[in-house]
Amino acid sequence: TWTTGNVIEEQVTAIRELVGDKRAICGLSGGVDSAVAAALVQKAIGSQLTCVYVDHGLMRKGETEQVEKDFVAATGVQLKVVDAEQRFLDALKGVSDPEEKRKIIGREFIRVFEQAQVEIIADAGPAVEFLVQGTLYPDVVESGGGTGTANIKSHHNVGGLPEDLEFRLIEPLRQLFKDEVRMVGQELGLPEEIVQRQPFPGPGLGIRIVGEVTKERLDLLRDADAIAREELTAAGLDRDIWQCPVVLLADVRSVGVQGDGRTYGHPIVLRPVSSEDAMTADWSRLPYDVLARISTRITNEVRDVNRVVLDVTSKPPGTIEWE
Ligand code: XMP
Repeated sequence: TWTTGNVIEEQVTAIRELVGDKRAICGLSGGVDSAVAAALVQKAIGSQLTCVYVDHGLMRKGETEQVEKDFVAATGVQLKVVDAEQRFLDALKGVSDPEEKRKIIGREFIRVFEQAQVEIIADAGPAVEFLVQGTLYPDVVESGGGTGTANIKSHHNVGGLPEDLEFRLIEPLRQLFKDEVRMVGQELGLPEEIVQRQPFPGPGLGIRIVGEVTKERLDLLRDADAIAREELTAAGLDRDIWQCPVVLLADVRSVGVQGDGRTYGHPIVLRPVSSEDAMTADWSRLPYDVLARISTRITNEVRDVNRVVLDVTSKPPGTIEWE
């Protein structure tokens, strides 16, 4: 019979046998899949695993700390954090086109990650032969069900790893669906915020700012996003919503009246959706009082935002993200 306990036990044994006395590397994205994969491998081989987290400065409020502190506390994993915020900001300077942003973020990510790999490989210790990936069963099916030696998708989830990796892959979640991965994560003692996390795109808030990405705009969007998430959680709606992008229309201004004067600020878009697999989606019919609280708080608490709008478009025709 299928139990999370059996899955963990089986994988731990198999991973130990496979890795022997060599070492493995795992990239953490902040998402569920890489976190559970890493925790599982950590359980199997302990300090023979090193995780790498590239902080691109495009995460939401508290997410980097969640990886750096909570994940490490829960697993005891050896973690190398690379603070690359300034590098990403520099690379994104002056860029507004969404695909261009994705390309730049993907490219910089690979460079920073490879550099970190090189540093880990260069330190004393056994050879680094393995790379851990949080590939799930649906990813395996989608990519033709191969053995997973070199078939690395260049979009969504996979974090932009190069295709000519000379590592052998460890993919402990290859037979699992998302809900099973969450159960395994829970059993491994990972924090609720990581295990139940909703989907979040690899390029992060970089594709939730319509316009150029700057530090100031990121901070503003982080504040607005944190308020929306806080209120949705407080209202008990997290399980009903697939995800809720919060988008800053940085290139749009509208007139408002705040305090004792006229303002000329930016709109924030709320994009709560319900979905099964992100291929299609419908806009979530959120309670008006929850929307009202989010709107009031964002316009009161976030400087330069004087309007909150709700996206009521299904997918298709609209995508979930705005970029
Ligand atoms: P769209 O906007 O295409 O999004 O309806 C579908 C799902 O994919 C996520 N998404 C991304 N994930 N890199 C990612 O890792 C990306 O560039 C990217 N773009 C969209 C989106 O959040 C949604 O869950």
